[in-house]
Amino acid sequence: MCGIVGYVGAKFVDSVLMVGLERLEYRGYDSAGVATISNGELGFRKKAGKLKILDDNLKQSPLGGNIGIAHTRWATHGVPTEQNAHPHFDCKRVIAVAHNGIIENYTKLKEVLVNKGHVFISETDSEVIPHLIEENFNGDLKEAVLKSIAELDGSFALVILSEHQPDTIIAVRKKSPLVIGVGKDENLVASDESPILTHTNKMIYLEDGELALIKKDKVEVFDFTGKKIEKTVQEVDTKNEEFDKGKFDHFMQKEIFEQPEVIERILAERIGEDGLVHFKERKIKREFLAKVGKIIIQACGTSWHAALIGKFILEKYARIPTEVEISSEFRYRNPILVGDTLVMAISQSGETADTLAGIREAKAKFTKVWSFINVENSTIAKESDCAINMLAGPEIGVASTKAYTAQLMNLFLFTLYVARLKYSMSNEQVSAFALELKAIPNKIREILKQSEKIKIFAKEYAASPLMIFLGRGLNYPSALEGALKLKEISYMHAIGYPAGEFKHGPIALVDEKVGVVCVMPEGELFEKMISNVHEVKARKGKIIAIATEGDRRAAEVADSILYIPSCSEVLTPLLTVIPMQLFAYYIAIEKGCDVDRPRNLAKSVTVE
Ligand code: F6R
Repeated sequence: MCGIVGYVGAKFVDSVLMVGLERLEYRGYDSAGVATISNGELGFRKKAGKLKILDDNLKQSPLGGNIGIAHTRWATHGVPTEQNAHPHFDCKRVIAVAHNGIIENYTKLKEVLVNKGHVFISETDSEVIPHLIEENFNGDLKEAVLKSIAELDGSFALVILSEHQPDTIIAVRKKSPLVIGVGKDENLVASDESPILTHTNKMIYLEDGELALIKKDKVEVFDFTGKKIEKTVQEVDTKNEEFDKGKFDHFMQKEIFEQPEVIERILAERIGEDGLVHFKERKIKREFLAKVGKIIIQACGTSWHAALIGKFILEKYARIPTEVEISSEFRYRNPILVGDTLVMAISQSGETADTLAGIREAKAKFTKVWSFINVENSTIAKESDCAINMLAGPEIGVASTKAYTAQLMNLFLFTLYVARLKYSMSNEQVSAFALELKAIPNKIREILKQSEKIKIFAKEYAASPLMIFLGRGLNYPSALEGALKLKEISYMHAIGYPAGEFKHGPIALVDEKVGVVCVMPEGELFEKMISNVHEVKARKGKIIAIATEGDRRAAEVADSILYIPSCSEVLTPLLTVIPMQLFAYYIAIEKGCDVDRPRNLAKSVTVE
């Protein structure tokens, strides 16, 4: 959370930094700030609220210069005000620091610094950093930074700019990501690659415990003892256009509509000419996977919903007992991890602090970790024994959509892969299943054609005081995901519930003003869902059914109906979620919400 960017080169720095911050805005958007050096002097501008406020201000009166740092904030310590916005400064305002992470011992440090006469103006933990550097400065900025970070507990990615060394940005990484972009007579640094790609595709990935001196024609990297390290420059093939909305109004909308192509890409990568599933880059031995006795999947939010479906299919097809844990719970309860257990982590960003902590817990207990991530060089990718890119492509919209269906697809493929290793499925069965998976993208295309109809339903339900999402079996997690999408982007009160459990309390919420989305595709549990629908109707709730094309019985009981094409029951979660994503999107539009920047949220949750 929080995005940081720095630039040194010949370009106009205000504009490079603002375009960079726009790309990072998904990491936080409570407030933003910029500091640059122009004619040897440090200047800054900060604003509370969305980035546009700062942008408008800088357009009217730019700071100027060719070197600068910038920050977009997701508040941890201190409300989102101008004073709490980054960069923060020392007393003389000659050292500026932008920080992503948390300084855990800041109260103690602040007390010591205040006693020495330092004056603080913000409520943040981050402000101790420039004051510490000021305190430790003895003519050599790098030495002062090294001395200061040795006193910090917690996580930090820092970019530091100072009049003491006006041609250099100092970047530091400990437990929060930082990437350096190497250009021609210009260099950049940022929380991820997205702001850098407009300028160069050559990257240096800083590791924990590294500090870089970034000048316009030189990048030098050191460890925290000050010893120089040789780093390799890597070329990435992510395309700059992937960070553009294209013809769509919002990233979320673009990403919903991209899902057929995402799934085609995953299937093309994983299903070989032999009709079987392959994970060529897999770094955990086949022999180990063949004897895995238990899988624990740990994840957060939408990724946790995908994990719940993963449990169903791993148990059904690979016959491996599977538990699913919310990472922030898993990490603190001293889990029992015996020899043949595999811990799986699922994370779009690859940076989620709790999921990462769960991985560290597993590794501390000598347990192998298999991760599905969507960001190749993320921390989770680096720390797992085997990290598989889920291949959704950059997901910018804060509400996860295409990453969710990519997670599901990867879990299906992983299940088929392990089922074959365990001989719980024959080659023929795996190939037949893979063929069914290949039909999914066109089925999603069919659902997307209903978007205009969904828009109309959204208008009808936008004023409901509460929306309830019900499902059973594999579509119980789909109901949870439908409710999460709606509440996070439209701020409408929504709950997801297992339909059979609903009568044990929550049904008391139902009256004629409440909308109830019933996920009820054809299959084994359809009749049970029909009974649950009747229970809700008897209490005057309004039913929106998500049912299989041509289903007359669902149409008879529902007030509104959305169809998915017919498919095997086990694959329905890949389809039922699509109309719910669109429903949430159009309700948020109807209510005038900022779909890609919902309040209080950030895309990459790097704090506990
Ligand atoms: C909801 C959403 C979040 C994330 C959660 C985990 O739309 O995006 O619930 O799923 O914060 O994030 P990752 O997958 O990056 O670990």
